[in-house]
Amino acid sequence: MTFKTLTELANLYGTDKGTIGPTPEWEPHNYTDIYEAYLARHRQSAITILEIGLGVTGPQWETTIVQGRNTGGASVKMWHDYFPKARIVGIDVNPCPYLDNDRIRTFVADQGNPEDLQAIVEAAGGIEFDVIIDDGSHRPDHQQVSFSVLFKRLKAGGLYFIEDLLANGFGDHLSSRHANDSVRNTRSVLKHFQQTGNFLEPNALIDPDALKAQMASLTFHAPKPWVDNVRYPADTEQICVITKKPAPRKPSLFSWFTSRGA
Ligand SMILES: C[S@@+](CC[C@H](N)C(=O)[O-])C[C@H]1O[C@@H](n2cnc3c(N)ncnc32)[C@H](O)[C@@H]1O
Repeated sequence: MTFKTLTELANLYGTDKGTIGPTPEWEPHNYTDIYEAYLARHRQSAITILEIGLGVTGPQWETTIVQGRNTGGASVKMWHDYFPKARIVGIDVNPCPYLDNDRIRTFVADQGNPEDLQAIVEAAGGIEFDVIIDDGSHRPDHQQVSFSVLFKRLKAGGLYFIEDLLANGFGDHLSSRHANDSVRNTRSVLKHFQQTGNFLEPNALIDPDALKAQMASLTFHAPKPWVDNVRYPADTEQICVITKKPAPRKPSLFSWFTSRGA
């Protein structure tokens, strides 16, 4: 039996996570090798994945990725085929019930609205996720609100990916999708945490101390030194992954003996 790589599936369905976008003109992101490095070991596991931002057209958001070989929902289709036993929950502001099947369930929600996100978690039965992927609006406030609400819903040891960190400002540009006076861009907020142990302020994080207490690691990746034909310094990462602390280990019989000096 042969299995397609994540990159092959991305390229087949036309998400830009792979090495060719939906059309030859669309700049792909080259994220799939990174995802595969983290996720390949779970390929045959019955994991639960949440993706924010499905790449579907509709009244709430003008989604340009649906063109060429991309007929909508490309990344969800990719996850579905790559993980044959996984359940996939998708969130988008545009409704897309046509993507739903026995392993895919989509919900309409604004990722910048904590009540919307909480309602979905409850509608999905208080579920906890193994993997969460934020590929939605790429607005820093939205990314930070989603991270605050959904990181709590990640299983111990789970992985939280935030894509397209450059789409919300290489630095702290001032425009609607970029950082502004009240919310710094997510890359800067997290980089500062990595360097100092504190999130850069101002930010849109809810209960940052609880987040800090649950974070085990934060890793940035720069799969390509350019985006949309603009060359950036090589250390300009486009995607990050945040790992949640593992569950505390139950003391083993051996440690019970050693703690008693046996
Ligand atoms: C870049 S596309 C996602 C591409 C898709 N993940 C893929 O790889 O093929 C962004 C998606 O985010 C959705 N979106 C935009 N703003 C949103 C928001 N506030 N909350 C949830 N989804 C949003 C858009 O409707 C669009 O479908």
